[in-house]
Amino acid sequence: MNRLELFPVTTKIINNSLTIDSQDLNLLVEKFGTPLYLYDKATMNQAADSYLSALASYYPAPASVTYAGKAFLCKAIAQWAHAQKLYVDCTGEGEIAIAVAGGVLRENILVHGVNKSIADLKSALENAGTIVVDNLSELRRISKLSAGKLPNLWLRLLPGVAVDTHHAHTQTGQHESKFGMTPEEVLEAVHFCKENKLPLKGLHFHQGSNFRDATPLKAAIEIGLDLVQEMDLPSDWHFCPGGGWGTAYHEDELPQPDIKEYVRIIVNHVVDGCNQRGLSLPRLHLEPGRSLVARAGVAVYRVGAIKRRRDKVWALTDGGMTDNPRYAMYGARYSCLTVSSPGAERSERVSIAGPFCESGDVVIEDLLMPKISEGDLIAIPACGAYHLSMSSNYNGSRRPAVLMLEGGTARMILRRETIDDLLSKDM
Ligand SMILES: Cc1ncc(COP(=O)(O)O)c(C=O)c1O
Repeated sequence: MNRLELFPVTTKIINNSLTIDSQDLNLLVEKFGTPLYLYDKATMNQAADSYLSALASYYPAPASVTYAGKAFLCKAIAQWAHAQKLYVDCTGEGEIAIAVAGGVLRENILVHGVNKSIADLKSALENAGTIVVDNLSELRRISKLSAGKLPNLWLRLLPGVAVDTHHAHTQTGQHESKFGMTPEEVLEAVHFCKENKLPLKGLHFHQGSNFRDATPLKAAIEIGLDLVQEMDLPSDWHFCPGGGWGTAYHEDELPQPDIKEYVRIIVNHVVDGCNQRGLSLPRLHLEPGRSLVARAGVAVYRVGAIKRRRDKVWALTDGGMTDNPRYAMYGARYSCLTVSSPGAERSERVSIAGPFCESGDVVIEDLLMPKISEGDLIAIPACGAYHLSMSSNYNGSRRPAVLMLEGGTARMILRRETIDDLLSKDM
């Protein structure tokens, strides 16, 4: 049953029920309701360990992994990142506040953002170890705001090299992208840093999110290293070729993209590229989000109405685009298993959609499933990244509860929103 390989590493079928971390999903739903999000700590730990151990065995100089908080950030996830000794990439003062509340150390907070506000920059100056500067206006603002010691500054390069992410909206490194600086702009920024004695320490780029062919990284790394030759960085310089390594969402995409192989490819390009140019090896940073947490997350929905038509079966669930906008945004494909009898014979093609007033509120299109009935629970794998961090209150919906599963116990890390939460901002 290869659909199981999309789920967290601890997922098993026991007594005809789906279990994660030895916990029966039926019992979790009885206690916490639906829609419900589950995160399996063991799966997150395994992914972090794949990155860290691959860097330790392949890269002969210091290296770090930065968790891209945009994938999903709350206090418990920040605490996990801290425990794993990961840096945390925060976009803006909101994510910085969550990282600080989760105990992430100043030196491990790295701040991104394509148009950082003054409040974002002030928070970064106060709380972060590194600011990745996106553009020249931002650099001028940082220079004006800074009084005293500044965080390390890295410049974000727009390499002009795309990766295949399956959708234009998840590409960031191509020529026409809004992110980062062209090589010419980077050199202008270098000049500005020198003139203003700003602590320029590194170069960063990020080509896109959810790719599984690492080939385009080579060209971008070469462009980055060519530029570094002209940047006059200190000997303890930093280099970050971003994140974006993919995850499998549907059984058609299995096997899971290999994290260690991805790291090995990057390391080889960086080491060869530095050797060819006579550059010392940088502190190498990788910046994954999705590949650390997507597989750990599972959404559990309850099926309500079913529409069985001649040419289509619709199963309508209590969760959808407000907790997972990825279908509406990029036509993302998902798979699922029923929580009870997940191994039953698959006899009909079902499309699954949420309860919200948008035709784009679709969860899964046309998936072969066992005969589905009202009241069934379905578990959707690979829901750990870019779901709740992009969630909304559309149609007055309340965000679901989130549980962390570890060592046979379920700890609620985010409570379900209530009607009072919905009304709490009205004046
Ligand atoms: C600057 C930056 N770094 C890292 C990431 C993480 O990407 P992913 O979650 O696909 O690994 C993103 C995502 O868009 C990003 O914009």
